[in-house]
Amino acid sequence: MIELPSRHSFVDLETAAAILRDGGICAFATETVYGLGADATNADAVLKVYEMKGRPRFNPLIVHCKDRDMAETLVRFDADADGLARAFWPGPLTLVLPAKSDNAIAGIVTAGLDTLAVRVPGHETARALIARTGRPIAAPSANPSGRLSPTRAEEVIVAFGGSVPVLKGGACSAGLESTIIACRNGEAVQLRAGAITRDDIASVLGRPLARAGDGDAVAAPGMLARHYAPETALRLNVAVPDTGEAYLGFGAVPAAVGPLRNLSPSGDLREAARNLFAMLHELDATGARSIAVAPIPDEGLGEAINDRLKRAAAKE
Ligand code: TXA
Ligand code: MG
Repeated sequence: MIELPSRHSFVDLETAAAILRDGGICAFATETVYGLGADATNADAVLKVYEMKGRPRFNPLIVHCKDRDMAETLVRFDADADGLARAFWPGPLTLVLPAKSDNAIAGIVTAGLDTLAVRVPGHETARALIARTGRPIAAPSANPSGRLSPTRAEEVIVAFGGSVPVLKGGACSAGLESTIIACRNGEAVQLRAGAITRDDIASVLGRPLARAGDGDAVAAPGMLARHYAPETALRLNVAVPDTGEAYLGFGAVPAAVGPLRNLSPSGDLREAARNLFAMLHELDATGARSIAVAPIPDEGLGEAINDRLKRAAAKE
């Protein structure tokens, strides 16, 4: 059980929409992770999101849309983007596309870029919230910048000391952030591995998917080396944990002496993705000196899981 601060609020859909329309901040469930939402057309509201997260201002936000029609008012779709949106929306795919110059989005959302990241979430609560609010919603993951992403409503309450109202929607079914694809000039590049695999994207594109490299013109400014990090130090690719260490296993695990969680006893990467952040939160709270993590195969959803683990283990 997660212990909640004495002052906190879970709100219903109507209240959450009213808060957003009034320029306030409200966290809400999506199928990937919980988001910290603000009216994307209101610069003051969006500024509060950056401040609450302690997020660098150069790191742009994803704009959540009710449907493809709402996204069409904001960005230009090329053939790749059209195919990907048809295949994966509503769902855990974010498209970075050229922004329409007359769109209503506050400039601070894109941090000065001429592109905009848009997504139509698969979670019904999230789409209902956007529909009730009647505006696109800018939302990063609902965690202080650099820390673990929340996949349960209670983790959001704890992360912000009860100061952020939360529209609950159960535990997130995907458990990993959306896959981010930038489409431009007939090219499609993966900026962030996520809940939709590289192979699934490639099969819709009909060709292999390029990976954003270091010197690349398009990149996700938010992909810092250290990110998604628990307080406790992580050690990766550990088959047998040391005494006193917590262990995050995958598949068959050795008898552990310290606190133990298993991402998926059967070795299922989908189950592992869903459990990843919640189990890291739990092991982080045990007070163990470090968390050792079992090797995770680098195929399918393993690409995104290993990406998050590598950043969580990185030194400052
Ligand atoms: O699943 C998700 O995507 C969740 C839920 C809440 O929707 N949101 C999320 O947001 O993960 P955040 O802020 O934690 O990550 C957004 C990423 C950052 O790495 C940011 O740099 C990138 O998207 N991004 C946003 N706009 C961009 C743009 N115009 N060009 C390139 N990267 C962009
Ligand atoms: Mg995040």
